[in-house]
Amino acid sequence: MNAPLKNADLQARKNAATPRGVGVMCDFYAARAENAELWDVEGRRFIDFAAGIAVCNTGHRHPKIVEAIRAQLDCFTHTAYQIVPYESYVSLAEKISARAPGRHPKKTAFFTTGAEAVENAVKIARAATGRPAVIAFTGGFHGRTLMGMALTGKVAPYKIGFGPFPSDVYHAPFPNPLHGLSVDDSLRAIGHLFKADVEAKRVAAIIFEPVQGEGGFNPAPPEFVRGLRDICDEHGILLIADEVQTGFARTGKLFAMEHYDVQPDLMTIAKSLAGGMPLSGVVGRADVMDAAAPGGLGGTYAGNPLAVAAAHAVLDIIDEEALCERAVALGDRLKAKLDTLKRDVPHIADVRGPGAMIAVEFCKPGTREADADYAKRVQTRALERGLLLLVCGVYGNVVRFLFPLTIQQEVFDEALGILEDALRDKIGAAA
Ligand SMILES: Cc1ncc(COP(=O)(O)O)c(C=O)c1O
Repeated sequence: MNAPLKNADLQARKNAATPRGVGVMCDFYAARAENAELWDVEGRRFIDFAAGIAVCNTGHRHPKIVEAIRAQLDCFTHTAYQIVPYESYVSLAEKISARAPGRHPKKTAFFTTGAEAVENAVKIARAATGRPAVIAFTGGFHGRTLMGMALTGKVAPYKIGFGPFPSDVYHAPFPNPLHGLSVDDSLRAIGHLFKADVEAKRVAAIIFEPVQGEGGFNPAPPEFVRGLRDICDEHGILLIADEVQTGFARTGKLFAMEHYDVQPDLMTIAKSLAGGMPLSGVVGRADVMDAAAPGGLGGTYAGNPLAVAAAHAVLDIIDEEALCERAVALGDRLKAKLDTLKRDVPHIADVRGPGAMIAVEFCKPGTREADADYAKRVQTRALERGLLLLVCGVYGNVVRFLFPLTIQQEVFDEALGILEDALRDKIGAAA
């Protein structure tokens, strides 16, 4: 019989076998997971408020997803859609196109990772406009491929040592009232880019996240999104909404763009689309999506049948379990808890986010100076008590909450208790 696995042994093996560039947050190793709970190889239980970085909105191993994958396993696991197609890809494209915001006819193509979806959205926008340039935003995150990194508006750790990046990518500041950047500042900066760096008629697309994920859960204000749409319409530029992190009920709508009265031309989707299976996509205006020549889009594993089967189940679960409504209810409870704690925890500078895409930002008490140490301490203390939290933000001073929307009420209550303790303990430690 094999000896039981130990976290410390695995950590030593990991350090010897894998490069440090694959940074790993936890020093314990997953053995199994169920809905919002995860157990390590030594049997310790954690409440998972990371959900595989926003991938498990429908929880770990939802029985319907497991069943859908199992049924697909019994049929075939891979044919390469571009060689031998299958109905489930087509019907998933039909469903996503029908449900994505926008009244125009739409088409959807599937890929594997979020970064790949972003790459393909840019390719499609270039093919459709015949223009090269792309405008992105500070604090934005769009993946770890070369174009993904070029678009990402955060240097450390993503870009260090990896350049040169693809050219013709420009950054404008993303609005951030807490850090003194208004919507006007941001929109005016795009005008400056057109004067100083790139003529508007060379710009293929503007890409933005409706709520910045890695950048700190910063929601795009409605007047900002409207302003982007106006700029795009004026100059024949395509608007790409990167919904990789915001999608699939996280914000209280199936897609975050449903919160706005603005329609994007293209949208990237991934993460919770397939509940833990690798699947991404680009959905958008049919005429734009058809701009790429046959063979220009795809990939060997793009739209893998097991992942597609999982995605069908995800869409059903979101409807059957009313996960958009649940996101709002759970998010409201968390926000209320954090708002109450504000009175006693002076480091809490802001509590924000739509639906269950909630974050708390920490600053040094009485200032607007980011307090990354405090965020880290809250994360560490919560982890000591078995609650897995993620930190984000350009300054690393934001804790974001990405619990499965299927989380059991008692597990959610337990997590809020741990969170409160972690925040209150910090008062003692910081005082
Ligand atoms: C908004 C956004 N776009 C793109 C990506 C890249 O996705 P992936 O890591 O699957 O390549 C991410 C990942 O966090 C993301 O949050």
